[in-house]
Amino acid sequence: MCGIVGYIGHREAYPIIIKGLKRLEYRGYDSAGIMLFDGQELKVSKTKGKVTDLEEKSSREMTINGTIGIGHTRWATHGVPNDVNSHPHVSNSGNLVIIHNGIIENYAPLKEELIKRGYVFHSDTDSEVLINLIEDVQKKENLKLGKAVQIALNQVVGAYAICVFDKQKPDEIVVARLGSPLAIGVGEDEYFIASDASPFIEYTSNAIYLEDEEMAVVRLHKPLKIRKIKDDTLVDPYIQELKMNLEQIEKGGYDHFMLKEIYEQPSVIKDTYRGRLHANLGLIQMAGIEDNLEKFLNANRILIVACGTSWHAGLVAEYIFEEFTRIPVEVEYASEFRYRNPVINKGDVVIAISQSGETADTLAAIKLAKERGAFVFGVCNVVGSSISRETHAGAYTHAGPEIGVASTKAFTTQITVLTMIALRLAKAKGTLTNSDFHRYLQELEIIPEKVAEALQTNDKAKEIAEIFKTAPNCLYLGRGYNFPVALEGALKLKEISYIHAEGYPAAEMKHGPIALIDEHMPVIVIAPKQGHYDKVVSNIQEIKSRSGIIIAVVTKGDTQVRELADYVIEIPETSDALSPLLTTIPLQLLSYHIAVMRECNVDQPRNLAKSVTVE
Ligand code: M6R
Repeated sequence: MCGIVGYIGHREAYPIIIKGLKRLEYRGYDSAGIMLFDGQELKVSKTKGKVTDLEEKSSREMTINGTIGIGHTRWATHGVPNDVNSHPHVSNSGNLVIIHNGIIENYAPLKEELIKRGYVFHSDTDSEVLINLIEDVQKKENLKLGKAVQIALNQVVGAYAICVFDKQKPDEIVVARLGSPLAIGVGEDEYFIASDASPFIEYTSNAIYLEDEEMAVVRLHKPLKIRKIKDDTLVDPYIQELKMNLEQIEKGGYDHFMLKEIYEQPSVIKDTYRGRLHANLGLIQMAGIEDNLEKFLNANRILIVACGTSWHAGLVAEYIFEEFTRIPVEVEYASEFRYRNPVINKGDVVIAISQSGETADTLAAIKLAKERGAFVFGVCNVVGSSISRETHAGAYTHAGPEIGVASTKAFTTQITVLTMIALRLAKAKGTLTNSDFHRYLQELEIIPEKVAEALQTNDKAKEIAEIFKTAPNCLYLGRGYNFPVALEGALKLKEISYIHAEGYPAAEMKHGPIALIDEHMPVIVIAPKQGHYDKVVSNIQEIKSRSGIIIAVVTKGDTQVRELADYVIEIPETSDALSPLLTTIPLQLLSYHIAVMRECNVDQPRNLAKSVTVE
């Protein structure tokens, strides 16, 4: 998704903006641009491609220095990725400049009207329409920029995070948000603006997160005034102290963020349960759950909404919740749920899962569920994110910033949080025996060590990756708790290596996909000792007898599958319900190595964005 960086203060804006855009690269983008103002002259440089391409181009074009500027990484929605469609966009007069993240849905009629009024458009973007609309409003009524932005925004339908600069008022940047994130870093005599705090964390740890439908005029030497776009009421700015540090968002010696994040899993899973899981006391304490325990206990049904990897974590949770708590669970793609007039009964509890906390479909599903009277609980990673604010209550995963577009640690920490919730409810409902409850607590507590052990499969995963790096297709099979892991394994391979991969419940093979099996088809079978082991062994035999190539993820010491499989990867033993936390590790490593060997852009795969803030 698009990334926004802005600066106004006493330092040179150019390096701050370029470095900030690099920090936002993880969001996914196809072009980048920058605007600087030196007090007299305004310059824009933009290009299709990466921030390094922008650096190269702007080193020639940016002949000025300035202490105010805005920069953007664009993820195309309206108009192909090219230099002209890149942001910033300048208004017809040449005075106003905009960067925009989001979609203006009614841009076509607005554009038509502006064309009738003599405006000329150079790009295919909705953002260029917005900046000219602002200019039109400003001119017609001779308004200050802030007021013109506000009036224009009240005419648009859609989502946005914007920064607008007016050359005639060069001590301010007007910012606004609806549906796309925007943070303001508050320094001494300087302000930073960004899609998240990573571009400014080294300068200030004080941040204000704009809420939906809020705007602010960020003016030098003036306290920040935030107002509601609709009714102009003033809002008290809430300055949050950020806990994130620079090291957390840098690669720390790894070749890619994805690899770093895979290796962080033992420690972040610990961070996830720290202070919440007390195995020695037989306790799970999570504030969001304790405060709303009755709602969960009285729930007739739990609905889980999420997208992508978070949806896979939701599927794992479905198995865990139903097994531990006997509460019926349904898991839905947020993008389907929001548009299908779902039946939501009073007393339903909705759990929304999202790493970024900004996924537009998940956010919309939450709003719909709330409108229909459901209690909505969020499981998010990013503190202060839109979803964490929109939900009634929630639990953070505390995984730290996830920069690689492919989710890894987000998945395992989401499962950890959801498992703890299920355990807490099971305890309250008495649906698990005391001994099972204590056993799960103890097993969960030592999972980080087992994840560390599972990470030792790296060499094996690399060896297998070397053999299958050119495979055009791949099948992933699992049963029970590990069926969602098969889906997740396939998603990881698809998104970073561009190999076509499918995940299936192993027993579904015989209903169709088995036709695909031949001596060229690698089939990754998740076959830990616990669970439906014998059934999975039968499924392996079915594949073997059709000459498929078996790569099996097995429990350490396994002999039966080893005899059948062409390659095995061993992971430590744990109970069936917790096994996804381990079985997923070699699958992450396998995808990673295959993608590296295929020379793919692991951290920023093509066409993908880290947080999908458009529908
Ligand atoms: O931030 P979220 O968890 O809401 O994101 C949901 C999906 O966009 C995300 O999981 C996506 O599928 C990842 N690229 C998977 O690796």
